[in-house]
Amino acid sequence: MKRRQSKNSLIINLVTAVVVLVLLYFAFNFEEDLTGLIVRLQLDKIADPRTQIIAGIKLVLLGILAYIFVRALGSLVFGMFRLRKGFDAPTLVRNVFSIVAFSLLFLLIFSFEFPKANLGALFTTSAIFGVILGLALQDTLGNFFAGISLQADRPFQVGDVITVGAQRHTGVVEEITWRAIKIRTFQNHVVLINNSSAAKEPIEVCPRDNLNARIVYFNTLYTDSPAKAIHVVREAVREADNVSSRITPIVRIRDLGESAVDYECKYWLDDYAKYNDTDALVRQRIWYAFRRAGLNFAFPTRTLLVERKHAGEKRAGDGGALVERLSAVDIFAPLSVEETGMLAHAAVRHIFAPGETVIRAGEPGSSMFVVHSGRVRVQVNENGRPRAVATLNEGDFFGEMALFTGEPRTANVVALEETEVLEIEHAAMKRVFDTNPDLVESLSFIITERRKGLATQPETDNGVEDESAGILSAIKRFFGLS
Ligand code: CMP
Repeated sequence: MKRRQSKNSLIINLVTAVVVLVLLYFAFNFEEDLTGLIVRLQLDKIADPRTQIIAGIKLVLLGILAYIFVRALGSLVFGMFRLRKGFDAPTLVRNVFSIVAFSLLFLLIFSFEFPKANLGALFTTSAIFGVILGLALQDTLGNFFAGISLQADRPFQVGDVITVGAQRHTGVVEEITWRAIKIRTFQNHVVLINNSSAAKEPIEVCPRDNLNARIVYFNTLYTDSPAKAIHVVREAVREADNVSSRITPIVRIRDLGESAVDYECKYWLDDYAKYNDTDALVRQRIWYAFRRAGLNFAFPTRTLLVERKHAGEKRAGDGGALVERLSAVDIFAPLSVEETGMLAHAAVRHIFAPGETVIRAGEPGSSMFVVHSGRVRVQVNENGRPRAVATLNEGDFFGEMALFTGEPRTANVVALEETEVLEIEHAAMKRVFDTNPDLVESLSFIITERRKGLATQPETDNGVEDESAGILSAIKRFFGLS
């Protein structure tokens, strides 16, 4: 469409130029005949001397030619600009170029055709006129100069999304003219903002070539795990169209609300001008992801919680699944069903987010843990940096060293993902030891092996048996066993 238009205007300009050139040829070569014609038509009564009429005709014709020339020159200059920069020069700059170039050419032609005309007097008169005109055109000129400063500053460009002023006009910049900024809103309306008003207002710019972010809010029930909600939403959102793959979306808790955990999801867009569609898509993806993961959106409710023995934690003894979990732990294999049931009943369930520390090296400890779900890493600090010693999975246990020997914790244990552990305390273990004295021996062996893993220098095998025996008697002493 644009191409056809410029082709048409090119043809019109060419035809006009040819016609004007032909007329000029006649004006210059048949000046005598033209004078005769003027006398015959009695036009010399209107203006005298006669030559001035001919000079006036020539001035108009040369003026038209100058106009076509300036347009052609402008197309050439700004065409090259587009080729080099990849975008159109601002309308304002193009208009200023045309006005200045045409004025200069016109003055040149004028002084050529009317050499006797007193241009100085003309300018003096026009200076007075300028003051009068300036006052009358105060607003227009204000817009013009504000437009020039906008062009010079280039705080935004065509295609950027901007929000202007207290009324928060938001849209995509379509054009910056000598009078106004033209933006297309997301309701497909066109808003024109005077350059001079825009220069006084704050403008929020979301440049087209910048990674602009958006924030979408959602919530979950208090019973839903934050680590799970964050993971599920992050994965769902990063897959959505127009969500930039260059930065992973950030999902975080915004508030612990009255009846919901409030979250925000921050994501970056490839094309910011489409943020309405992308926000909607992101919300839709969150809904589906919640459905699949069994997460729940919260709506204002009041739940009456009856607190039992351990605030905020669930006693684990009632689940058959926990008995099953504990009976699958190596060291508890020799226990009877009743004994495992007793341990399961005494166990307390705790849930940890990825990266949370379950136990800390150097702290006292009087309980051990079984990994019910998830994974943990055992790590020690070496020269201020963590060294991973082991990774423990579902059914593995930890924290037994401090529990059985009474010494401080030997390592940090950190959850690698959302992890649920079962905590078993000293008293419950003592009951088990009383009826299963052989358990102490297998435990002392495991502790010896794990200590080897903690040591920086590898130990010789000779020392292992002595150490194991030492641990065995330490456990017996600590638990008051014979
Ligand atoms: P405790 O010393 O109570 O606290 C840190 C725990 O890390 C420790 O008990 C063990 O349960 C565990 N741990 C230490 N070293 C190792 C290892 N080499 N392999 C597996 N677990 C270990």
